[in-house]
Amino acid sequence: VISGVDLHLDVPGRSLRAGLTIALREAVRSGRLPPGTRLPSSRGLAADLGIARNTVAAAYTELVAEGWLTARQGDGTRVARLASPQRAAVGPARPSAAGLPPAHDLRAGLPDVSAFPRADWLRAARRALARAPADALTYGSRLGRAELRTALAGYLARTRGVAADPSRIVVCSGATHGLMLLAAALRSRAVRAVAVEAYGLDIHRGILDDGGLETPLLALDGRGARVDHLPDLPGAGAVLLTPAHQFPIGVALHPERRAAVIEWARSTGGLVVEDDYDGEFRYDRQPVGALQGLAPDRVVYLGTTSKALAPGLRLGWMVVPDALLGDVERVKEITPLTTSTLDQLTLADMLESATYDRHVRAMRLQYRRRRDELVAALAARVPVAQVVGIDAGLHAVVELPAGLEDAAVEEAARHGLAVYGISRFRHPSAPPDRDAVVVGYGTPTPSAWSRALEALCRALQTVAG
Ligand SMILES: Cc1ncc(COP(=O)(O)O)c(C=O)c1O
Repeated sequence: VISGVDLHLDVPGRSLRAGLTIALREAVRSGRLPPGTRLPSSRGLAADLGIARNTVAAAYTELVAEGWLTARQGDGTRVARLASPQRAAVGPARPSAAGLPPAHDLRAGLPDVSAFPRADWLRAARRALARAPADALTYGSRLGRAELRTALAGYLARTRGVAADPSRIVVCSGATHGLMLLAAALRSRAVRAVAVEAYGLDIHRGILDDGGLETPLLALDGRGARVDHLPDLPGAGAVLLTPAHQFPIGVALHPERRAAVIEWARSTGGLVVEDDYDGEFRYDRQPVGALQGLAPDRVVYLGTTSKALAPGLRLGWMVVPDALLGDVERVKEITPLTTSTLDQLTLADMLESATYDRHVRAMRLQYRRRRDELVAALAARVPVAQVVGIDAGLHAVVELPAGLEDAAVEEAARHGLAVYGISRFRHPSAPPDRDAVVVGYGTPTPSAWSRALEALCRALQTVAG
């Protein structure tokens, strides 16, 4: 192949020529082959694909005629600049204008949903339904099914060191829903502001804002959030933290800071909201136990199945201090029920049968392997990039030389790769103190992973090489 590029074409099995034409057109349309890309010679591509040279030449001719490609003597065949590819959406997690998913997706926030344990879930669902009492088909308790709350109490104590009594566990529709309930409960207690980390999920800030709460920020450093600044934030009656694995920066809250934030909560009557979104996925060191275990009376613990299973399940939980339980119950009383009782029973079965643990363990190995490949590939090919936040989770932060973040995200899009710049997660009042991309290495399917990594390396080599 003259240009040496591997086009990764998946030629559908109709007429070879028609199939190749469709595959090439799609690769250009999606932005996977950016404008100006030099294609292999027809002889080279034919050899690559094991088809006749005339077939490739005919497909090229057709695409030149349609305006997707250009062919010039001495310059070979290239992707036309006028081809206006409908690029991958980069930025908010939504499909592109044409509704097409990006060719490569490294947006942080998703697990590899192709690994969802469908057979295990089905078996658990069948068992759960067979055993379910009649009242499981009624509205049931607003706090969640007792079976699930009991199973969660055991699981969270065992895996995360959470001090959980089933009576203080509230099942909700993902951690996000838990935060909504909590925002309302805090408002009813006249809390005015919830401090948040300088980097975090914009949707969480939005939920607090919508709940009428201010969100003053805490700076972050190598030891996590500057909780020592909490006393300087007037009206902050609570603080939202990601102590085990700061989202998205990736540091664990330092033990002294853990002690300090609990001391702050105890001395002021404040609350700590602990978002333990990916606590099960830790690779190189002992798991950092939940902060909640240190002070169950001052910490609200939020957990979710969104990383270990799938966000589409919308199943999460809160462990609520006794003193706040009444307020949360009152809020839940006036909000619609949001979680299916049958899904709750299914999850309870997966937890009790240790199927959940098995799945988490298997996924941990896979994500760890991807993490290692990411670190090795970037070290070899983009040495100016620093990969941080790699001890845990499904994403890593790739720090870039100053000023390169936007260019990196744009260049990635030219390679058909959707990836977030870290500025997306920055609090609006926080100073822009770093340039980085947040690489969600958990997102692709196993077969898509290496190509996504390749696209990332190429994009970063172009901007930083
Ligand atoms: C920081 C953080 N918290 C929580 C969640 C999970 O939210 P939910 O359980 O509502 O899906 C995510 C998922 O992306 C996250 O990134």
